[in-house]
Amino acid sequence: MEATATAGANIAIVKYWGARNLAQRLPTNDSISLTLDTATTTTTVRFEADLKEDVVMLQGKEASESARARVIAHLDRMRTLADISLRAHVESSNTFPIGAGVASSASGFAALSAAGKAALGLKLSQRGMSTLARLGSGSACRSMVGGWVHWVQGTCHEDSYAKQIAPPEHWDVRDVIAIVTDQEKPVSSTEGHRRALTSPMFPARLARVKSIVPRVRDAIHGRDFRTLGTQAEAEALSMHAVMLTSAPPLLYWLPATVELMQAVWAWRAEGVPCYFTLDAGPNVHILTLPETVEEVEGRLRALPCVQRILVCGPGPAPRVHERKEVSGELEA
Ligand code: DP6
Repeated sequence: MEATATAGANIAIVKYWGARNLAQRLPTNDSISLTLDTATTTTTVRFEADLKEDVVMLQGKEASESARARVIAHLDRMRTLADISLRAHVESSNTFPIGAGVASSASGFAALSAAGKAALGLKLSQRGMSTLARLGSGSACRSMVGGWVHWVQGTCHEDSYAKQIAPPEHWDVRDVIAIVTDQEKPVSSTEGHRRALTSPMFPARLARVKSIVPRVRDAIHGRDFRTLGTQAEAEALSMHAVMLTSAPPLLYWLPATVELMQAVWAWRAEGVPCYFTLDAGPNVHILTLPETVEEVEGRLRALPCVQRILVCGPGPAPRVHERKEVSGELEA
């Protein structure tokens, strides 16, 4: 009863910000994202008869109380589906910093769901897996699907799930992530979703999102980078406007975040096709095309505020690692 799975983070073009049911993570709007190839979480889940309590290791260390509670709640959901009570050992590692505006909860709960399903032999459809992952973290439902993805907000648990707009090979857009800090964010996304509804800008944002979802879908189908990038930037700014005007307000930006946003505008004015987007953190995602990745990376490297750069492309749905018998022992 052990399995290992790897899942990609995702970058939202149309953001999920605000929930109408936080317990079930039912969002207030549809969202659209790209699942990423190199920003991944790999998780091994092992259900053991002699374990007294769940053990949760993240990046080689015991998980914090809050992270542990969230993982255990997700294990409980899977135990209920499998009708077992065995405790589990969970070990998870990321290729990127946790909690700093790269969607660690998305890839984390996608990998945990995929590994849990394989370990327990759960019979769940892809849609069922997406709804299961959503209960762990909203954006994780999108990481259950490869490539370009649409999370339909739905009306209840069963119909709020993510589906594919186009596979990863449809369109090679790159997300060049400029990491300006590895620090964990001070306020969680979950708290942010709660606060979003207090912003006077929230209704205006919802109306806006409704109108751009079909445009972003069309831009993806038609590989229209200018529309995709323009909408991605406007979306990020609209979400952060809601954050700034929530009660109490939320400001995830650092001076380096602003420096990078302005740099992207300047580079675009010089003819480099690049657009920024931001999640709930200070790191800046720069969307560009394969032929200009080196140019963008070079420019980022020249800026002292950039600590690290991670280049991602379109990635697949979660993969469960094959286990093969090696001299009598099972190895991942
Ligand atoms: C800003 O999925 O992290 O990245 O459901 O509380 O786990 P929880 O929130 P989470 O929120 C993601 C917010 C975002 C935008 C997005 O990915 O759509």
